[in-house]
Amino acid sequence: MKRREFLLGSGAAAGALGLGGFARAAGPQELVIQPASFALRERVTEGMISLSPDAPPPVLYGKQGEVMRLPVRNTLPYYTAMHWHGLRITNKMDGVPYLTQMPMGEGEVFGYEFTPPDAGTYWYHPHCMTMEQMAHGLTGVMVIAEPEDPGFDSEQVINLRGFRLDEGGAFLPAFTPRGAARAGTFGNVHTANWLQAPVYDHLAGGLVRLRVVNTDTTRIYKLHLDGGAAQIIAWDGHPVEIDVAMPSAENPLLVGPGQRVDFAVKMPEYEGQTVNLMAKLPGQPMQAMAELRAVGASVARDLRELSPLPTNPITKPDLDNAELHEFVFGWTPEGGEPNNGFCGSLGYNFWSINRTPWPGDAAQDVGPLATLELGKSYVLRLRNESPNLHPIHLHGLAFKPIRSNLRTLPPLVTDTMLLLKDEVVEIALVADNPGDWAFHCHVIEHQKTGLTGFIRVV
Ligand code: C2O
Ligand code: CU
Ligand code: CU
Repeated sequence: MKRREFLLGSGAAAGALGLGGFARAAGPQELVIQPASFALRERVTEGMISLSPDAPPPVLYGKQGEVMRLPVRNTLPYYTAMHWHGLRITNKMDGVPYLTQMPMGEGEVFGYEFTPPDAGTYWYHPHCMTMEQMAHGLTGVMVIAEPEDPGFDSEQVINLRGFRLDEGGAFLPAFTPRGAARAGTFGNVHTANWLQAPVYDHLAGGLVRLRVVNTDTTRIYKLHLDGGAAQIIAWDGHPVEIDVAMPSAENPLLVGPGQRVDFAVKMPEYEGQTVNLMAKLPGQPMQAMAELRAVGASVARDLRELSPLPTNPITKPDLDNAELHEFVFGWTPEGGEPNNGFCGSLGYNFWSINRTPWPGDAAQDVGPLATLELGKSYVLRLRNESPNLHPIHLHGLAFKPIRSNLRTLPPLVTDTMLLLKDEVVEIALVADNPGDWAFHCHVIEHQKTGLTGFIRVV
């Protein structure tokens, strides 16, 4: 697919959505990728990237089974493409440069349009110039509602992420060779919805659906809740069908980049009491990332009043007839040339899948890591041959982690598997969505220095 042909192919949609004044008034609102400024700490930080000039990327709301039209306009003098993380949508709307679309240049509009098959908590971020644009702010949450309201009084979205700033509030380089070759380069300003420890009011005694999303480029958050009563109701978008223990200060929940957790929270009874989302960051005391504060007279709800979330329509893999494919994540044998077309390069390769570094935001001019037959069941054995943790993410398909050499895995459905040091995890899936699906580590410095490829489903 050449760039020119692509523009012609999508021209009708892009023109109708983006260029005509009439269509703009009648059609869906454009998401405009643009420069922004915001006070992340005391002083305003310039050079941020968002969908408005002075606010974080908004939460995008959709409904399970209903079409979403999201025309994205790029006003930056760099290329981009928007990816909808975790949504099992049609391949050509997946937002991966070269694999599913050409990068969008300055002034271009891409008419994303898809129907989310699953309800839950998802998110969006660019998949071209990924490191630069995500590090500067372009990461937002998507909420896909169940057709039936599960019965909460309110909802709270928390977009957790860090920024790397100097004392004056200016951006420091988002990546470093030292970081990229190890656990990644970490932010030093820790935010929830771009704010430091924001406080949100919710009804005393009410039931809150707390959706926590890790959109950081690097950090694995160690989380727990303090105060109130709560349970985990969804993980990486999908309802949790078993009882999972609530995390604690001693046993926090590890939420890797790209991962999401939904809590049902029962607010405390008295006005002013809080439920805090706590994180333990290295070298710092335990801190609240965000607080939910009870307001008003208690509405005296009970967690048992919630109806269980309906399961998403994920086909169960047939483990007896599943074919095995192996993937080894580790160092790159001899570097290789970083090459990333319009989508930026960090300038080096450190990582590989099956000993081949696949530089860039998606493998370019290279074949798939595996070709799966549409409708068949597969087991993918993921082997981490490094001391670093890797949140391994597969686009377009949901999978079940089934076994690990290090721990017992709860039966969950996910799109991102956090591999521990030297861990081998088998995941099972049905290859039920045709297309070329990016498969990569979600530590963006790993992704951009070799730990990327794709899986083909035909
Ligand atoms: Cu959120 Cu290819 O990733
Ligand atoms: Cu994704
Ligand atoms: Cu990694």
